Amino acid sequence: AAVVEHTFLVSEVTLRHLCRDTVATVVNGQLPGPALEVTEGDSVVVHVVNQSPFGVTIHWHGVKQRLTCWADGAGMVTQCPIAPNTTFTYRFDVVGQEGTLWWHAHISTLRATMHGAIVIRPKSGSYPFPKPHQDVPIVIADFWQNDLRQVQKDLELWIADGDHSKDGPASATINGKIGDLYNCSGVAQDDTFVLDVEPGKTYMLRLANAALSNEYYFKVAGHRLTVVGSDANYLRPYNATGDVVAIAPGETLDVLMVADAPPCHSYYMVALGTQSPPPAPQTATRLARGIVRYPNSHGQAMEPQMPDQHDRTTSFHFHGNMTGYPNNPLLPQVRGHVHDKFFLTLGMGTIRNHTVHVANINNVSFHLPQGRSLLEARYHGAELVTATEEMSARPPLEFDYTDPVLINFFNRSAKLLELEPSRRATTMRHIAYNSTVEVVFQSTTLMEDSPNPMHLHGHDFFVLAQGIGNYDAARDTASYNLVDPPVKNTVMVTGLGWAAVRFVADNPGNWFLHCHYEFHMGMGMATVFEVGNGPTPETALPPPPADLPRCDRGIAYE
Ligand code: C2O
Repeated sequence: AAVVEHTFLVSEVTLRHLCRDTVATVVNGQLPGPALEVTEGDSVVVHVVNQSPFGVTIHWHGVKQRLTCWADGAGMVTQCPIAPNTTFTYRFDVVGQEGTLWWHAHISTLRATMHGAIVIRPKSGSYPFPKPHQDVPIVIADFWQNDLRQVQKDLELWIADGDHSKDGPASATINGKIGDLYNCSGVAQDDTFVLDVEPGKTYMLRLANAALSNEYYFKVAGHRLTVVGSDANYLRPYNATGDVVAIAPGETLDVLMVADAPPCHSYYMVALGTQSPPPAPQTATRLARGIVRYPNSHGQAMEPQMPDQHDRTTSFHFHGNMTGYPNNPLLPQVRGHVHDKFFLTLGMGTIRNHTVHVANINNVSFHLPQGRSLLEARYHGAELVTATEEMSARPPLEFDYTDPVLINFFNRSAKLLELEPSRRATTMRHIAYNSTVEVVFQSTTLMEDSPNPMHLHGHDFFVLAQGIGNYDAARDTASYNLVDPPVKNTVMVTGLGWAAVRFVADNPGNWFLHCHYEFHMGMGMATVFEVGNGPTPETALPPPPADLPRCDRGIAYE
């Protein structure tokens, strides 16, 4: 196995879109940032040199970080931010995962402009499908025309005052480009991603959704799309209805596209953002275009037929159609005895006498600690520092989800949850090493218009089932796919629906579990699984690296 070494220089640059300049904090001067290309089994070393005015962290989204929890990069969960003019080196191995993942800043709203793809190729060089001619990372994102510090302030206003008038993203992007030709006072600017293809060849589109707040529908005019992987796990190949794929924030998809359309033409690839808050300005376009171009192409590119931006069903079925391969080594354990079951309701609520709006899990709005990360507090046996007396590290509210009374409570009165004032706390749920854990996510009334892409750090989970309405253990466990469930790190929980996942807690550490809509996470739709030490020194929490950033050196967004 090789060592793949990179330097990520974080600095502010000026991006030009829609005939306007926007200052953004990016990695190595580019957006998306550099793609990390590795072969399964490689070691990764990334030196982050922070020349921006903000504290930053980088999360390697979906990398399991087995026994390297200090490299997970979750701000205030596993580390304090890397202060301006300082450096931190992330070191981890990529083992037992093949496909596509991505990396992003994991503090404040910086991930809007600090993100890039992670490409993991098989060591053997062989895929469970014919080897594609070329890999094409396709990073889909939202473009925010506002200074992101302003976006952060807007979010705070949104939370504090329920002021929902603030602008959402100005456009969608594909690999940093909006996909149009602009005439900026006489100067033409071509802002389009172009993929040149050779007729007859197969391309592996490695899609990642880096958007803060939108699920995307993606389609290429005139081409079939065969889905073969997601979240760096292979899927049984399938063709989505209408060749439209749906990709949630945080999710990745590996999609094969054969260049078998009539040649001498070009075809648009389109990423269409679905409707989710905060609302975009009137002028916004929810759609980004790229071009698939054949040699000697002429004429207007062909447009694909996209679903409606309010369409939720297409996404629900697209995700429900995923199946994996039954040879995953953790599957036998997942089929057996379940040690811990968590029933987590996803909702919205208020605190401080209904003056502050929050998002919550089981009516608790998660609050990040201050001064030191959860993992450092645990390792050093130190106390957690939280912001005010109201925000304490109290044990989470747990429901016995096998209790029929409670199930009825959720069935009849999800509304009740929304009316109940929430608590704000730094919740952690403790799990013994090597336990089999089941989590059922239940969307509640206030999430009707918004699905929740729930993402777990440090582990992959098996997605066993999803449904519309309220989860009913007696009925729904019968629908679990324990034969060939897809293996994921992000599951889309449909509005007013549920999803059930299981995983093996084989990785000691403090692992963030949160909605990948940035605003839900920022408003508290998160919790932490604290996975205990294994029986041997090699399976216990490792010591922190010597250069781990200290919190007294400055934090993000003053
Ligand atoms: Cu991609 Cu905790 O995030």
